[in-house]
Parts: sequence; structure tokens; C-alpha cells
Amino acid sequence: MVSISTAEVLYGAILNRRSMGLARLKPDAVDRAVIEQMLDAANWAPSHGDTEPWRFTVFAGEGRAALADLFEAAQKENVADNPEALAKAREGATKRAFAAPVWISIGMVPGRKTDGSLQMSLDEELMAVACAVQNLHLMASALGLAGMWHSKGPSVHPAVARGLGLQEPDRLLGFFMCGWPSSDWFTSTRRPLSEKVRWVDSPEDFTSASTTNEEEI
Ligand SMILES: Cc1cc2nc3c(=O)[nH]c(=O)nc-3n(C[C@H](O)[C@H](O)[C@H](O)COP(=O)(O)O)c2cc1C
Repeated sequence: MVSISTAEVLYGAILNRRSMGLARLKPDAVDRAVIEQMLDAANWAPSHGDTEPWRFTVFAGEGRAALADLFEAAQKENVADNPEALAKAREGATKRAFAAPVWISIGMVPGRKTDGSLQMSLDEELMAVACAVQNLHLMASALGLAGMWHSKGPSVHPAVARGLGLQEPDRLLGFFMCGWPSSDWFTSTRRPLSEKVRWVDSPEDFTSASTTNEEEI
């Protein structure tokens, strides 16, 4: 029997995680228990000071009509001076919200000290939320769910953030949209580590002129 080490399983899961957008999602509903496994994985992310700043709102089933309301509000703010576009805002927002079976908003609410001041820097809080999303995405892929972190346009619009109750310095960092895959899973590539890593084994290896190691790593 071949024994597979935890490291091999983990590396396989990391390689297998793919970003798959709306066009690659089946419309079928996803069981709440599956989403809860993803959220549980997210909740195990590290955070400096144990602030646990990640906040998620899950929109699924008919709950997506509430998300359509938020997208509509965002679109109306964008096209406030265009009556034709205003009239189409509801239709576009509904189409988008119902284009994925599950949308998970990604919020950052920083930890506070008892006097109300921030416990940690906002950068640290953002980094912790990114760790949580990576856990969420890894678990989604491991469960066979396709999904993607979307961080542009309506996914980070101030009207959507307000609707979700996120007020400065809280942040809306986008949405994780997911569903069962409608197309084949696929692989990806990365540029070599040698472009991104410096390896310093002796003082001579460290020269301020070079930012990466020329050697293959
Ligand atoms: C913070 C973050 C934000 C992202 N935002 C978007 C986005 O708005 N639109 C998009 O198409 N992909 C987005 N992506 C997905 C990336 O395009 C994707 O991770 C990259 O192409 C690598 O593909 P892979 O995730 O399948 O390895 C985002 C990824 C991250 C980490």
C-alpha cells in the first residue's frame, strides 16, 4: 500500500485550487453543510492578536434577492444621471446575483481595544482576512466546488459595503462566488520561484543590487 503523507495531500490541494468564475458554475444549489465546511476552514486562519477580523455573509437561494438589492443600489449610484441605465439597474443586478448559486461577502472588521482604538494595523487585519479566504477557497476546491474571489466593481462598491453594515475602517474586500463546476477542472502554471526568491547562505550572496536569486530554485 502506498502511504500518502499529509504534506503530499496538502500540496495536492494547493495545486488543485483554481479560480473559476460565473461562467463555470452550474446553477444547482449547494448544501448549506458544504458551505459551512468552507466557512469553518476560513475561521481557522491566523490573525495577529487573535482579532479574527474576517466577516462573511452568505447569500444563497432566494436570499440572493437581497444581494440583488445591494447590486442594484450600487448600479444606481454609478448611473445616477442616465435614466435609461437606471431603469435597467434592477434587471442587471438580479441577473448577476442569480448567476452563482452562492455568494459569500468578504468583510474585514478590525479588532478593537477596550478604549475603541485599533488593536492591530489595518494591513495586518487585511492580511488575516486574505489567509481566511485562502482557507475557504482551498476547502471549496477540495470539496469539488468551483469558485473565485471577485474584488472589482459591484463586489467592492461602497453601496454594497454600506448595505452589509461595513463602515470605515471596516472594509468590503469582495465576494467569493461558488457552485458546482459546469466545466472540466483545469490546471494552471506559475512563473518560477527563482524570479521571486533570494537565497542568502553567506554574506556574499546578499547584494543590494539584486532582488532575486539567478539560480534555479
Ligand atoms: C485578492 C484576489 C482578488 C481577485 N479578484 C479577482 C477579480 O476581481 N476578477 C477575477 O477574474 N479574478 C480575481 N481573482 C482571481 C485571480 O485572477 C486568480 O487567482 C489568478 O488568475 C490565479 O488563478 P488561480 O487562482 O486559478 O490559481 C482574485 C484573486 C485574489 C487573490
